[in-house]
Amino acid sequence: MGSITNLVGKSENPVSLYLVKADAFDGWLSDQSPETQNWVSAAGFKAKSGAALLLPDGDGNASTAVACHDDASDIWTWSAIAEKLPAADYQLQTNDVNADDLALGWALAAYRFDRYLKDEPTARAQLVWPASCNQTSVEASYSAIALTRDLVNTPAADMGPAELAASAKTLSDAHGGTYREVVGDDLLVENYPMIHAVGRASDQAPRLIDFVWGEESQPKVTLVGKGVCFDSGGLDLKSASGMEIMKKDMGGAATVLGLASMIMAAKLPIRLRVLIPAVENAVSSNAFRPGDILTSRKGLTVEIGNTDAEGRLVLADALADATDEDPDLLIDCATLTGAARVALGPELPAFFTDDEELADDLSAQSRAISDPFWRLPLWGNYRDMFDTRMADINNAGAGGFAGAITAALFLQYFTETARSWVHFDLYAWSKKARPGRPAGGEAQAIRALFAVLQKRFGA
Ligand code: BES
Ligand code: MN
Ligand code: ZN
Repeated sequence: MGSITNLVGKSENPVSLYLVKADAFDGWLSDQSPETQNWVSAAGFKAKSGAALLLPDGDGNASTAVACHDDASDIWTWSAIAEKLPAADYQLQTNDVNADDLALGWALAAYRFDRYLKDEPTARAQLVWPASCNQTSVEASYSAIALTRDLVNTPAADMGPAELAASAKTLSDAHGGTYREVVGDDLLVENYPMIHAVGRASDQAPRLIDFVWGEESQPKVTLVGKGVCFDSGGLDLKSASGMEIMKKDMGGAATVLGLASMIMAAKLPIRLRVLIPAVENAVSSNAFRPGDILTSRKGLTVEIGNTDAEGRLVLADALADATDEDPDLLIDCATLTGAARVALGPELPAFFTDDEELADDLSAQSRAISDPFWRLPLWGNYRDMFDTRMADINNAGAGGFAGAITAALFLQYFTETARSWVHFDLYAWSKKARPGRPAGGEAQAIRALFAVLQKRFGA
């Protein structure tokens, strides 16, 4: 689990692999032998992104392969090619693509979540590590993505708050972090009342996962991830279809753990803190109820309009804690609203920030490395949707419009004094399988976020 299986150090007799831009293919072909030209035509080969073809030599052996791409920064093209080519060893003959992107996309073609399967892995196309690769960095990216996906894919029965915490501790320990956990009634003692309220109905105690890594003197970056290990909706129970994939409601936590693993593996010169409220939103006689009024860590009172708007509650206490430490940059990731998916669909996480420079950096990196997400506004005029006479705010905005924005505005109450804060509302899931992205958990935004952090804080 977590390591690359389809790249090899060296090979006796590899197939030479040529990568050609689809719109330059005709030119490439015209330089090949008449036999090759005949073969390409007989195979009915269409030069489009992701297409790949083996080419025979004079003895009929497959000695060469050609594959096409449009956008070399789109790593999923390389996954498609790796899936398409038959099992053999391939050696790259092309220097004008980013070898790290190629290797990562190729590696992800072999990612499987196989914890509950007995099947032996099938033979695959194997790539000889290109000489220009930064192998360590590709391996770190791969294992970060695999970690995020594995955590999301693991069913809630085996990935409750305690198991999520154990995974976070393993990661922290592996890199020499300092780990603590505030569990169960200690959440009340240490003033995380909303994490306790949301999680107390579950057999597995709610907890706050909190680890720090790096030199205290370095710039402080704090990551907060929504760790709702299963979201039944609480007493305002979800429908069957609404609940079906709610094991993924710790996708924000899985995302920040993946990102943290990249940061720590690269030894970025920052002081990292990771905060994960880990709970199950369960139903029981001691569950929090609609109409309950909670006093948050920050002191704001919150009336519960709907127990299914639980993510913002647990995040609020964690974000208030994070903000108190006054980090240079505060990032939260959460599978927070269905409304964000209605607005942008499954592929595009929404992000919210008032820091224009950060927004520009994020959008630029997102485009440059094809790790897409899209900005939505913190539209302050909608704050009146939280109005209630009984408490400072209500947790479920009235009216039902702009649900992703109002959820972000709710979080903003708890990050008011933060220097720079960005909130990601993401899906963490692929509904349909595509090359490199099997159906199930997905690591969204972590490559672009890492690129932004590297650009800002890298040595
Ligand atoms: N975890 C869900 C949001 C979610 C649902 C994300 C489906 C991705 C797919 C969250 O806790 C939730 O239930 N949100 C409600 C909020 C509402 C009750 C104000 C929602 O979005 O419907
Ligand atoms: Mn919910
Ligand atoms: Zn939820």
